[in-house]
Amino acid sequence: MVPLLLGVAAIFLGATAQNVSVLQQTLSAHGVAAVYPTDKDFKTVSKAFNERYTFSPIAVAFPTSVAQVSAAVAAGAAQNLEVVARSGGHSYIANGLGGRNGALVVDMSKLKAITVRPANNTAIIETGNRLGDVALALNSKGRAIPHGTCSYVGIGGHSGYGGFGFTSRAWGLTLDTVKSATVVLANGTVVQASSSANPDLFFAIRGASPSFGIVTSIEVQTFPAPPSAIVFQYTWNNLDIKTASNGIASFQTFAATNIPPEFGAELVFTSGDQKGRVNFGLTGAWYGDANLLNSTLAPYLKTLPKNPSSTTITPGSYINSVAVLAAPMALNTSSAPDDPNTFYTKSLMTPSGAPMSNGAITSFVTYMANQGFSSDTDWFVEVELYGGTNSAINAVPLDSAAFAKRDTLFTIQFYASSSNGDPPYPKDGFSFLDGMVASIIDNSPSNWNYGAYLNYIDDRLANAAKLYYGSHYQRLQSIKAALDPKDTFRFPVGVA
Ligand SMILES: Cc1cc2nc3c(=O)[nH]c(=O)nc-3n(C[C@H](O)[C@H](O)[C@H](O)COP(=O)(O)OP(=O)(O)OC[C@H]3O[C@@H](n4cnc5c(N)ncnc54)[C@H](O)[C@@H]3O)c2cc1C
Ligand SMILES: *[C@@H]1O[C@H](CO)[C@@H](O)[C@H](O)[C@H]1NC(C)=O
Ligand SMILES: *[C@@H]1O[C@H](CO)[C@@H](O)[C@H](O)[C@H]1NC(C)=O
Ligand SMILES: *[C@@H]1O[C@H](CO)[C@@H](O)[C@H](O)[C@H]1NC(C)=O
Ligand SMILES: *[C@@H]1O[C@H](CO)[C@@H](O)[C@H](O)[C@H]1NC(C)=O
Ligand SMILES: *[C@@H]1O[C@H](CO)[C@@H](O)[C@H](O)[C@H]1NC(C)=O
Repeated sequence: MVPLLLGVAAIFLGATAQNVSVLQQTLSAHGVAAVYPTDKDFKTVSKAFNERYTFSPIAVAFPTSVAQVSAAVAAGAAQNLEVVARSGGHSYIANGLGGRNGALVVDMSKLKAITVRPANNTAIIETGNRLGDVALALNSKGRAIPHGTCSYVGIGGHSGYGGFGFTSRAWGLTLDTVKSATVVLANGTVVQASSSANPDLFFAIRGASPSFGIVTSIEVQTFPAPPSAIVFQYTWNNLDIKTASNGIASFQTFAATNIPPEFGAELVFTSGDQKGRVNFGLTGAWYGDANLLNSTLAPYLKTLPKNPSSTTITPGSYINSVAVLAAPMALNTSSAPDDPNTFYTKSLMTPSGAPMSNGAITSFVTYMANQGFSSDTDWFVEVELYGGTNSAINAVPLDSAAFAKRDTLFTIQFYASSSNGDPPYPKDGFSFLDGMVASIIDNSPSNWNYGAYLNYIDDRLANAAKLYYGSHYQRLQSIKAALDPKDTFRFPVGVA
């Protein structure tokens, strides 16, 4: 194994040796630090979060200023290299490393400023920051933005493709808070993007940013951190197929009732202890008046078995809720290293106007209960509530940003890792998840207008352009042709 890898690396280096030295000279002329395959740190700085992938970039650059990001992009473009940004490096398919060998990786981790401006409570966030650090910095000023639960995810990738968390029904996706951005284009030019400056670019970076530029900072509209928050986690172990199916169907019905925007939730499924059973969880957070959570949840809990296997209700401050949801990882990401995994993920966004039929739900739960019991992977499924009455995600006009799936009721994440979290990934893990998604789609109308979520990016997805970019794909292609004609920002599942 080792000699083979070395052989491949040698061929690769041989073919590009000249370009590496040109690149090295150009970057160092601009003072841009970079790590190359022959450097001893290379293995560490080119390691993917998803250990299913190993890629060898031509170099990993560490710019310390917007001007250095610009110089790095220009240096890569001049050699026709694939150039990608890396923010938190949590792309499911390692696109922060280029998604293949030979890319110039522009690592943003040295650009970490966060500035809250009291005049209008916008914050300028440089894209080297991760979600936990963003939450801490904003909270120290009494402010917050919507975002996902994992503290180590980077704000760059997260805000470029979406950004869902339990505050999203109240505040929208992370990308909905972006008012302007500083962007390095493929030719190295630094521009502002907002509704008044470069509006096409502003459209594109809110849902498809990696294909259009390197966003060095975003200006976001912050919200007052809620005065209190309650995290709730209920689980019912080993439910039978009928009971668990009813729990999904009644979640759809519940979503259509008048639930307040301060309510965020998802259903979580894992393997049961016996064939034909699943563990069923309800996890979420409540940001409204603490006395009103139980009455808000009651109509849904009434549809589930009376006694959960476990109930954990954690009241506290807003930032405590962010920490509880991120646990066991810390919010301050400089306090401990990241925790990689070896996994495959798929997603399915169900339309509000056409919820899943009882037949689709039953076949989905049957699959989890049977094939899920036999699978040699460690899997979970999350059914995230994007829509429902009063959701801020769905209130945004479809054509105001590239994010293409405003009509979403649920975003379902299907996640299967190797049993111990380390490589190798079991081959049947792919067909296992393909079959799980098919259990829903094959039992839905042939014209069902479902989609998929780019932050759960899947490089094996058929019909990816339509499922990810929907009706916005053609507009994105024409913006791409204008701003990045040589496709410098190219990587798997990008806009081309
Ligand atoms: C443990 C875990 C939990 C998660 N939980 C959630 C969740 O609760 N909600 C949710 O919505 N998502 C969640 N995600 C998905 C997450 O939002 C995506 O993986 C996200 O794209 C990662 O961003 P990143 O910056 O860390 O990744 P990277 O690999 O650095 O980047 C991802 C993509 O964005 C590009 N990119 C990065 N920075 C920039 C930039 N500055 N300008 C332009 N392009 C850039 C990269 O080139 C790459 O194509 C989770 C992921 C993990 C691993
Ligand atoms: C190397 O650089 C030259 C320009 O200097 C470019 O034409 C060529 O495509 C580059 N090769 C690779 C493999 O990127
Ligand atoms: C917020 O205020 C700053 C000045 O403090 C200004 O530069 C910026 O444009 C304002 N942002 C918005 C979205 O109005
Ligand atoms: C995280 O911890 C480090 C070291 O203690 C500290 O310097 C930094 O300010 C903390 N970051 C945040 C966002 O609180
Ligand atoms: C809400 O219900 C939980 C149990 O699910 C209970 O522990 C708590 O006391 C209730 N809260 C209020 C305000 O009634
Ligand atoms: C860089 O690209 C942008 C967008 O296409 C264009 O407006 C600008 O003129 C280009 N700059 C240079 C120096 O070519």
